[in-house]
Amino acid sequence: MCGIVGYVGGRKAAQLLLDGLRRLEYRGYDSAGLAMVAPGASDGFGLEVIRRVGHVAALMEAVPASQAGSTGIGHTRWATHGGVTEANAHPHVDGTERIAVIHNGIIENFAALRDHLQEEGVVFRSETDSEVLPHLIRKFYKGDPLEAARSALALVHGTWGIAVVFADHPGVMIAARNGSPLVVGKGDGETFLASDPHAIANYTRQVVYLEDREIVKITREGWEISRLDGRPVSHVLHELGIELGSSEKGLFPHYMLKEIHEQPESLSRCLLGRVVPETGGAKLGGFDLSPRDIVGIRRVGILGCGTSYHAGQVGAVAMEQLARLPAFAEIASEFRYRNPVIQADDLFLAVSQSGETADTMGAVQEAQTKGGRVMGVVNVVGSSIARTCGRGVYVHSGPEIAVASTKAFTSQVAALLVAALMFGRTRVLGPGEGRAFGDDLLAVPERMAGWLDTYGMAHHGPIIDAVELLTKARFVFFLGRGVSAAVAMEGALKLKEVAYIPCMSYPAAEMKHGPIALIDANTPVVAIVPNDLMRDKTLSNVQEVRARGARVILIHTEGDHEAARLAEVSIPVPKASALITPLLTVLPLQLFAYRAGLALGRDIDRPRNLAKSVTVE
Ligand code: AGP
Repeated sequence: MCGIVGYVGGRKAAQLLLDGLRRLEYRGYDSAGLAMVAPGASDGFGLEVIRRVGHVAALMEAVPASQAGSTGIGHTRWATHGGVTEANAHPHVDGTERIAVIHNGIIENFAALRDHLQEEGVVFRSETDSEVLPHLIRKFYKGDPLEAARSALALVHGTWGIAVVFADHPGVMIAARNGSPLVVGKGDGETFLASDPHAIANYTRQVVYLEDREIVKITREGWEISRLDGRPVSHVLHELGIELGSSEKGLFPHYMLKEIHEQPESLSRCLLGRVVPETGGAKLGGFDLSPRDIVGIRRVGILGCGTSYHAGQVGAVAMEQLARLPAFAEIASEFRYRNPVIQADDLFLAVSQSGETADTMGAVQEAQTKGGRVMGVVNVVGSSIARTCGRGVYVHSGPEIAVASTKAFTSQVAALLVAALMFGRTRVLGPGEGRAFGDDLLAVPERMAGWLDTYGMAHHGPIIDAVELLTKARFVFFLGRGVSAAVAMEGALKLKEVAYIPCMSYPAAEMKHGPIALIDANTPVVAIVPNDLMRDKTLSNVQEVRARGARVILIHTEGDHEAARLAEVSIPVPKASALITPLLTVLPLQLFAYRAGLALGRDIDRPRNLAKSVTVE
């Protein structure tokens, strides 16, 4: 969703804000803008507001290096209300143009507020819900910025992460949170604000996280946090991890390709110290579950959206196979509104890269409302979902900047496989079985690295041949069974969101029940057929689509020449036990999306219409 940065200190705000926005751009990037409190023409201060449609680069060009002002706010927008225009870009100002506001979230009662303000003579200049905020704050402003913002927010229903600056108060910034994340960073004689710690990690490692319905007055000396109802609040300082720093592209042309190639390293980090060969088991300290607790679990529900949901599907199969626990994966937005039946001995796992996805947060809160135990399986440390769950594991894949999730997916799958091994070893597995699975898991990073060395940067060969078919396709099918059905869904999502190619994933056998009618010579079929128990059955399904003219791209275990012969393009991946194959079979699918997007001239790291972290419903 939208990105927010703020600064109060002794340096020029503009360049710091632009740097922060550039780091946040992946969160949402229709337009961007800044507001600085700067010395005005007269002896007072005024607001300098600069906004541009498009990427942050356009804004950077518009902001002069000499831009004065050491108090400021910046915003990248992912449109929810109103088109992508400069008038709709944030910051929005009040009628006197002496109060500027940036907002992330949705104001559900904005129409009523807008009508009321218009009756009082307010003239609106945008189509956005957010613009009611500066006018409301102006309405209550009697000289105290904090109380004016507090009074205004008391009338607002919905979600917000906001930052406000006042021309009358250089050196002061007001921020508030309800549903959209905000973090305050401590500097030396300066203070930072951001919607994601990643934006300010280069300036400070000491931060506090605002909680819902809190408001904060920020100055260069520090901050005062209070509840919206006025009660003072204090938070402990958190130390940001070192992994937040490494988020440049380096030698790669795109973050997506960099992050695909980071997977051996990110996966190693995720597995480090968690697989325990000595016992044939695994340990996830963050779950804080004793063996007796694990024995008492009766069902596991894995909740997530998009790619995280696909990782959850793999996790659910692994939980049943390894731990013999009933397990299901469910799209979080469906779970949260179906009034789910939850028992005391259920365990829920909330999977999220950003830890800020509103749909997943809602599912977590619904499960907790009904007495369910929820553990986070999250990448961003200190994120809202991680803190709301209170217990869980971080997948440590490092900052994932490309909107299309790749390394987070494999780390999420790995963390869920480790959890399945941990529960399985406690409940049903002997040391030998557990050890064999654990060893196979620990071998994956090296196998990944070897495969990526061969295929990752190749400009010829089966990946390129496959992309040739995919980019010319009217429609693409992805097929698989069991955990490969989840990989098929992930491959289809990648190709849709990066290359904008229409495609569908289907459990391989299910094709016969209707969708096979879509098959002809213009519908390539990507079949994921590792050498597992369902290989033969899936190859039968491959024969069925071939018989109807489909051109098959087949992902198979290396050495399976019989399978390879069934395909126009065949791509081998290293051997691994069935439940572990998704960590390898997903790699060519990630590259398909990347290379197809490149061939079609797409904006690889920031595909149209998307945002990295969807913090609205
Ligand atoms: C993945 O490529 C997509 N960008 C999207 O589906 C994403 O996985 C989904 O929005 C969930 O995000 P989260 O993992 O941050 O919760």
